[in-house]
Formats: sequence, C-alpha cells, structure tokens
Amino acid sequence: MKQKPGWVLPDLKEAQKRTTNTIDRIDTFTIPEVARMMGRGKTYFISTYGCQANERDSETLAGILDELGFTPNETAEGSDVIIINTCAIRQNAEEKVLGEIGNFKRLYRENKDLIIGVCGCMAQEEGLVETLLTKYPQVRLLFGTHNIQELPSMLYSCMFEGKKVVKIYSKEGEVYENLPVHRFGTFKAWVNIMYGCDKFCTYCIVPYTRGKQRSRKMSEILKEVQELKDEGYKEITLLGQNVNAYGKDMDNEQDFATLLEEVAKIGIPRVRFTTSHPWDFSEQMIDVIAKYDNIMPFIHLPLQSGDDDVLKLMGRRYTKESYLALYDKIINTIPNVAVSTDIIVGFPNETDEQFEHTLDVVRYCKYDNAFTFIFSARPGTPASRMHDSIDMETKRKRLARLNKTWNDLALEKNKAYIGRTVTVLVDGPSKKDENVYSGYTDTQKLVNFKGENLQAGDFVEVKILDAKTFSLDGVAV
Ligand code: SAH
Ligand code: SF4
Ligand code: F3S
Repeated sequence: MKQKPGWVLPDLKEAQKRTTNTIDRIDTFTIPEVARMMGRGKTYFISTYGCQANERDSETLAGILDELGFTPNETAEGSDVIIINTCAIRQNAEEKVLGEIGNFKRLYRENKDLIIGVCGCMAQEEGLVETLLTKYPQVRLLFGTHNIQELPSMLYSCMFEGKKVVKIYSKEGEVYENLPVHRFGTFKAWVNIMYGCDKFCTYCIVPYTRGKQRSRKMSEILKEVQELKDEGYKEITLLGQNVNAYGKDMDNEQDFATLLEEVAKIGIPRVRFTTSHPWDFSEQMIDVIAKYDNIMPFIHLPLQSGDDDVLKLMGRRYTKESYLALYDKIINTIPNVAVSTDIIVGFPNETDEQFEHTLDVVRYCKYDNAFTFIFSARPGTPASRMHDSIDMETKRKRLARLNKTWNDLALEKNKAYIGRTVTVLVDGPSKKDENVYSGYTDTQKLVNFKGENLQAGDFVEVKILDAKTFSLDGVAV
C-alpha cells in the first residue's frame, strides 16, 4: 500500500501478537487548545454497525464531537462531519458498510468541505484500508478502535489543514477513563467492563481488531453505574466480548461474579450483561444471577456448533457435553431464565452429521432466541486458511433448516406466556399507533401491547394475549 508521511497503517499480523505490557489507565482527557470549539455552527452524523461495543464507542465519538462544539444531526444529508463506525465480523457486514460509504459519495460531490470519516473494526484491516484509500477518495479520515480519544486533533488536521488523516494503530494502548459520552438512550445504558479479547476462536477477527483483553478497574465501573442510577437510568448492560473473563488480565485479579454482585447491589432496576462465553462461566456467577432480582434472568450462551470436532477446530474449548451440563445448571438454578445463542453453520468441511449434532443441541436447549450465521472467512484468521469442501448451496440449506428448527421451538416457548402477566420496561409508542407500545420483559422478550399515557422508561404490567416467533402481544393491566 502507498504510504504517505504521517500515515499509520494497520497490520493484522502485528495485531495478533500479545504482549505482557501493563496497560496504563488514563483518566484525563483534554482537547488541544486549537481544536476547542472547532465545531461551532457545524453538525455531525454517526452511522454505527456491529455490536454493542461499537454502539458504546459511538456514544464516545458523539460525546467528543459535542465537546468540540458540533451539533448532532438526524441525517447524513446536510451534515458537516459523517463518521461511519464499522464492523468486520462477517463479509456481508463489510459489504453493507462499503455500500453506505459509496452512497455518501454524492454528498461529497455536492460539498467538498464534507468530512467523511471511517473508524471501527474494518479500519483495523489492511486490505480494507487499501480499498478505502484507492477506491473511496471521499473518505478523508481513517482511524481505528485504539485511538478514538485522538479524534479532536485528527479532525482538526482534516478540517483546517486540508490533510487526509490515516492513523490506525495495530496495538491496543491505554484504557481511557472519563472520555466524554453522549448517551443515546435515556433510560437504558451500556457500560464497558473490558475491552478486547484473547480467546482467538479460529474464525473470529475480533481479537485482531480490538486488541488484547483489558479490564476496567472495578471501582471505575461501579462509579459509572452509580452515576447512571443517580441520573435515573432503569437498565444497564455490562459489556465485554467475554464478560466472564473479566479481571483475568489484572494483577489484583477480580472476577465477574464479584463485579456483578457489586453492580446489582447499587440497585439499578435491571442489570444485564453480554457476552458470556461458556468457557469461563463459573458456578458462582450462576448463583449471583439467581440471588439478585435485579439481575435479569436472561443469558446469551453462544454455542457456535454442537459437534465436538468442529468446536475443537473453532478453538472454543468446550464440548457438547460440557455445554449441556452448563446449560442444565443455568436452567435448574435461575428461576424463569431465558437463554439465547449464536451459531455458525458451514465452518470449513462441516459434514452433514456434524451439522446434525448442532440441531440436536438446539432441540435440547429450545433457545428463546438465536443469531445464526454462515461461516465467513475473515482475513488473518486460522479458519480463513483452512481448505473448505462444502459449497455455499449446502450451507444456505443448513442455515434455513437451523432457523426453522429454532423458530418453531421458540414459538412454542413464547406460547407458554399466553395468559401470564409480565413486567415490561416501555421503549415507547409505536410509530403507527400511539396506543400501541413496545418494550421488553426481564427475559428480553419483545412485547407489543395496548396501553395509555405511558412514557419510555416506565415499568408496566402486561397481560400476554398472543405469541409470535419473535414477539408477544398483550394489553397493559
Ligand atoms: N464474543 C462473543 C461473540 C462476538 S461475535 C462470543 O464469543 O460469544 C458475534 C457472533 O458472530 C459470534 O458468536 C459468532 O457466532 C459470529 N461470528 C463471529 N465470527 C464469524 C465468522 N467469521 N463467520 C460467521 N460468523 C461469525
Ligand atoms: Fe471472537 Fe471468540 Fe473472542 Fe467471541 S470469544 S470475540 S467469538 S474470539
Ligand atoms: Fe463487529 Fe468489531 Fe463488534 S467486528 S461485532 S464491531 S467488536
């Protein structure tokens, strides 16, 4: 790739390396003098793809832009700065992003002062950065997941020095506390508890795009949760690629069960967490979840595959048997718990029989929800280098069968709600009918229901009258 002075380009091989360097925690964020109020009279728009980690990063981007004096805009059209926070998890996620950047070309043609920035996980991939630099001249700012805090100076160079800025570090840096945040939710909030991932599942690009696992200090997390409670937030979700591994990277090792218990004690009405990898799921964690009413009885327990050989090739470090034992323990200990999962079909050379093993687990666990994907080869990962003898048509058929299987079972499970009264945290009225509201149960079921004079953030009792595969219908009582 053509290197220009001042550019820092990503390197997935570098990103794969893990160091034992201690990670500094920095809690001062200052905006360079020249950049202060650079956004006065200007607007921004952020487009976010991918997981909740990205959603939360976009809240930091927005917080920084607010501090620079920019005003948020509802649409990309008419904005002075557009930032696209991208996801690299599967190829189709990347294609969507490239499509959107392509669409923004028109806006750039109409306004040459427009700054289009791309950040997030795709920016950590050298191949994609090359594509962006050669085929998308409208992109004038490229930065990665490790230097969001440098946005003021990077944006300043773009805006006032006319430079194209490309600054993507392959290695994680410090953990920043106290970065500004503009929360998009008024009663639900995300709380990072850790960054990065060290699991290196062989199909997954996240350990390369997000760097090594770095936990936040428990005291900082608890402080943030307390502030959210004081501000009236009703629900928080603790975020990490692997929340159960929380603290394992710290000297004074803390664990997730302890953190979760301390968070629950602060007393926010609803506490959630994601994602919990079966690998580090401790019994103590299950007990804590069962003990506190404000820890929601909902567990996302990614299966990926129900076949031991495939699991081994994926580097998941559990077997079908140990997964099911964990599942049983969860179901038998936490009252009224709902379980969801992630599954990949068509991992290289997955046989029909191996796929059937996945279906066996699905039939046993009767998941409340499932996110199902066809394997996508990700640059730099071991699985992308495996020879694959399975054609796409077979993979598509498997995905359809898997979806039919879990959908039918989820519908059955939802039907069991009919006649019951459940507590729903109201998201707001529907766009079509102001007397129809939606919200979620403690078990993360979407409920559409009739009601009156309700506000987003209210708790309301709803009697369930009907059940669908992905939602419940009811009436406020
Ligand atoms: N940290 C989480 C997963 C984050 S990625 C965990 O370990 O559970 C979300 C999901 O995307 C994964 O659970 C997996 O099912 C899917 N996924 C990740 N990489 C993929 C790939 N290369 N192809 C298809 N699906 C993938
Ligand atoms: Fe990816 Fe595995 Fe880490 Fe999840 S645990 S982010 S699937 S490497
Ligand atoms: Fe996507 Fe990066 Fe999240 S690849 S799923 S945005 S960690």
